[in-house]
Amino acid sequence: MIDPDEGDVRFENEGTLEPLPVVMERTVVMRAVGLTKMYAAVTTGSGSSSKGSARPALELFRGLDLKVHSGEMVAIVGESGAGKSSLLHLLAALDTPTAGEVWCGETRLSSFTPRQAAEYRNRDVGYVWQFHYLLPEFSALENVAMPLLARGTRRSEALEKARVWLGEVGLGDRAEHRSGELSGGEQQRVSLARALVTEPRLLLADEPTGDLDGKTAEAVFSLIQRLHAAHGLTSVLVTHNLEFAERCDRILKLKEGRLVDARSPVG
Ligand SMILES: Nc1ncnc2c1ncn2[C@@H]1O[C@H](COP(=O)(O)OP(=O)(O)OP(=O)(O)O)[C@@H](O)[C@H]1O
Ligand SMILES: [Mg+2]
Repeated sequence: MIDPDEGDVRFENEGTLEPLPVVMERTVVMRAVGLTKMYAAVTTGSGSSSKGSARPALELFRGLDLKVHSGEMVAIVGESGAGKSSLLHLLAALDTPTAGEVWCGETRLSSFTPRQAAEYRNRDVGYVWQFHYLLPEFSALENVAMPLLARGTRRSEALEKARVWLGEVGLGDRAEHRSGELSGGEQQRVSLARALVTEPRLLLADEPTGDLDGKTAEAVFSLIQRLHAAHGLTSVLVTHNLEFAERCDRILKLKEGRLVDARSPVG
């Protein structure tokens, strides 16, 4: 059976004796099923009445489903406040859904203990934040080595790998600079190297070019595209930049709590 939703590709035997039918299945790497996320109301004052409520309850996502296939580069777009960052947090096991499940391969993220979630983030996920969150007092090299040191890799080995990755992002000559001394674009490239130094299979990036000027944003996005292809990554990128979104394999728009295919009909 071909499930079109699974993206199967089948070369049919067209009546001759050979070649035999070949079925190539594209592996689903990341899957979210029926996601809901509730942020509870916060009340001020005493009592349980809603009177004096400082913040009402908020429901994000209404049975949100997502499948990302191996090697895909998927753009997530949507209005500010739609829940894009919240969704990436769920995919990275930085947060847990109120209902529904997130799977990475055969692993169900909601079954994780906090320690397993941390291991998953360190092993499987490279995460790029909009505001990089580098440690300004540490060198670029030390920042990139940090995820390896966190998993117990020997310092000399971690620094050696970090140096290779700084070269990959074109910053081999900035290794000893403190990250606080680097430009915004350079800092974002360092954070990309930090995300990938552990050789994860998933790259999750939350507006990785959102804080950069046009030319620098273009350079960082092109670098992400190159690394995605060169390292066989599966990537989910949140972006407000529709031109960058168009360069991804798929564009999904987060709208009214669901993801809808938003590839423009032309081109
Ligand atoms: N920890 C939290 N507690 C309560 N509400 C939250 C929390 N995190 C996010 N929200 C709310 O959830 C909604 C979605 O936030 P989110 O950051 O996911 O949006 P976004 O689509 O990433 O927006 P932007 O494009 O501005 O980054 C917002 O209304 C936000 O205020
Ligand atoms: Mg956001």
